[in-house]
Amino acid sequence: MKAMSPPLLEVKNLETHFFTDDGISRAVDGISFSLSRGETLGMVGESGCGKSVSALSILRLIPEPPGRIVSGQILFDGKDLASLPERDMVKIRGNRISMIFQEPMTSLNPVYTIGDQIAEAFRIHRGYSGKKAREEALFMLNQVRIPDPEKRALQYPHELSGGMRQRVMIAMALACRPDILIADEPTTALDVTVQAQIMNLINELKSRYNAAILFISHNLGVISEISDWVMVMYAGMIVEYARSSDIFKRPLHPYTRGLLRALPRLEEGEKIKRLNAIKGSVPDPAHHPPGCRFHPRCPGAVPDCVANIPPLSGAMESHFVRCFRWKEDIFQTLERGAS
Ligand SMILES: Nc1ncnc2c1ncn2[C@@H]1O[C@H](COP(=O)(O)OP(=O)(O)O)[C@@H](O)[C@H]1O
Ligand SMILES: [Mg+2]
Repeated sequence: MKAMSPPLLEVKNLETHFFTDDGISRAVDGISFSLSRGETLGMVGESGCGKSVSALSILRLIPEPPGRIVSGQILFDGKDLASLPERDMVKIRGNRISMIFQEPMTSLNPVYTIGDQIAEAFRIHRGYSGKKAREEALFMLNQVRIPDPEKRALQYPHELSGGMRQRVMIAMALACRPDILIADEPTTALDVTVQAQIMNLINELKSRYNAAILFISHNLGVISEISDWVMVMYAGMIVEYARSSDIFKRPLHPYTRGLLRALPRLEEGEKIKRLNAIKGSVPDPAHHPPGCRFHPRCPGAVPDCVANIPPLSGAMESHFVRCFRWKEDIFQTLERGAS
């Protein structure tokens, strides 16, 4: 969709569905985006909109069955990951594309010290000897600013705080100098101060390693702080895609506008004004509404929005929106009436 430097990763029309007793769940329904070196792309949307399924699809970690990538391409390094044999995929996963999750305890092994776990990544992917792998593990613990790394390396995951565990996850994810880091709600479980530290760390390491980052969060505030570009997801589709600053200056989709209005703001001195949550809920991906999937919650829906799915179209340079009515500049008025 945009290209500063040639993209490292290009996702084209990705569709990942789940085949359940309840019908076909169209969790990811035709998304396209690209990732470039040194850039962070933020993916934002409410719970259930398909963020994790998108991330897991790129790494080919979708449980199959019930899930399956039903169409689309994931182009990386001249290959299409969507159809790559598993034996080639293992060379990419955790090595050239790595991922950190919301809850590090699920990815860390409780019976090994953290030093050994990071060293293991170097042994597997780089073929380092035990001594060299241990030295590199200490180096990585330093890089993620874990104090007293020699001592920490000998500790087990349960001996560390949530923030420290997330740093260990980042150290492991970056150990092999991946081209791409996918961070799926990495700070959601952390308190605000630690959250800010982890985001700073990810930002700093992105520049140092010149990696591309796909940063996923349900929180537009978090996304805007860390991202160069933002894609807003709704019900398995991208509804808006723009530079982070443009999303804030001029949000075009009523859903994006809703997410912005739902952010807590400091007003009247230091008092936080209560947020305006978007009314209604995300549709069940097995039973999406016809037409624009946001129409049941949209203040500006007209019959056309019920009948047809709006295309994701270029509204301005590098700004795309999936809405028939963005041009009419109606949403501000409608929102005022609704609240
Ligand atoms: N293992 C699974 N089996 C069936 N459906 C799934 C599975 N994983 C995810 N889904 C479906 O995909 C939708 C999107 O999930 P997910 O990508 O995890 O959302 P989020 O945006 O919160 O990360 C869910 O609402 C669910 O219906
Ligand atoms: Mg998720």
